[in-house]
Amino acid sequence: MTIGTVFLVGAGPGDPDLITRKGLRLLRQADVVIYDRLVPRQLLDETRPAAELINAGKAPTRHRLSQAAINALIIDRALAGLDVLRLKGGDPFVFGRGGEEALACQRCGIPVEVVPGVSSAFAVPAYAGIPLTQRHISSAFTVITGHEIGDGVNYAALADLGGTIVILMGVKQLPKITDKLLLSGLAGDTPAAVIEWGATARQRTVTGTLQDIAATAHERAIRQPAITVVGEVVRLRDEGVAWFESLSPPLHRLWPAPTLE
Ligand SMILES: C[S@@+](CC[C@H](N)C(=O)[O-])C[C@H]1O[C@@H](n2cnc3c(N)ncnc32)[C@H](O)[C@@H]1O
Repeated sequence: MTIGTVFLVGAGPGDPDLITRKGLRLLRQADVVIYDRLVPRQLLDETRPAAELINAGKAPTRHRLSQAAINALIIDRALAGLDVLRLKGGDPFVFGRGGEEALACQRCGIPVEVVPGVSSAFAVPAYAGIPLTQRHISSAFTVITGHEIGDGVNYAALADLGGTIVILMGVKQLPKITDKLLLSGLAGDTPAAVIEWGATARQRTVTGTLQDIAATAHERAIRQPAITVVGEVVRLRDEGVAWFESLSPPLHRLWPAPTLE
């Protein structure tokens, strides 16, 4: 029997129109679609009626499938001759564990194709009106995970580098992360923003400074998924680049609000 192909496809960060043409074409053809929690649900309407849809973010027991279980599922379906589309939020290779899934398939001789996606790392700041670089203000940006406070990130080097800092998966740890950045020498009045459910009808943005952003986000009950941006570019939002939240009529209200099941 022929082995199926596994397509690791980025769905984009929330607005269903941000998937690539290639991703959408493959989604419409797939035999099996295994999708993650943060994938815009409207995209599932694009699948074939006969396609098998599997929510990797919620097993029948309402628990998330482990990475090993997801790998096993992908491999099982592909070895059965089915084309599997693994739909991931944002880009599959940016904090998406796409690399692990690609390696697991490769070890079993399953062909893999990767379709990059629009990562939340830059798209969510863009929807909040925050350019990550701006001439004379910021000429670099660094994307870090807020998950690994201990050894994952060298905060001193980060503070030295300058430019804009984008933190994914960091809401719960925000007080610790901002403390680390302050201790590493970043000024307390450095502008900062946290954007929740970016590029969706539920987008909310809070702004402040490195000193007070963790307390403000806590007061405003900001929850994941959210992205934190630290750097002078945050000021540009308040200077008038906040296009999405000021759309009139607010087109984004037309999209159904996503839920975390
Ligand atoms: C496991 S990472 C996956 C990142 C994804 N592969 C990408 O390229 O966007 C999940 C984190 O991405 C961020 N994120 C993803 N979608 C988001 C959204 N619509 N609004 C705000 N943050 C988002 C949050 O920090 C969340 O905790």
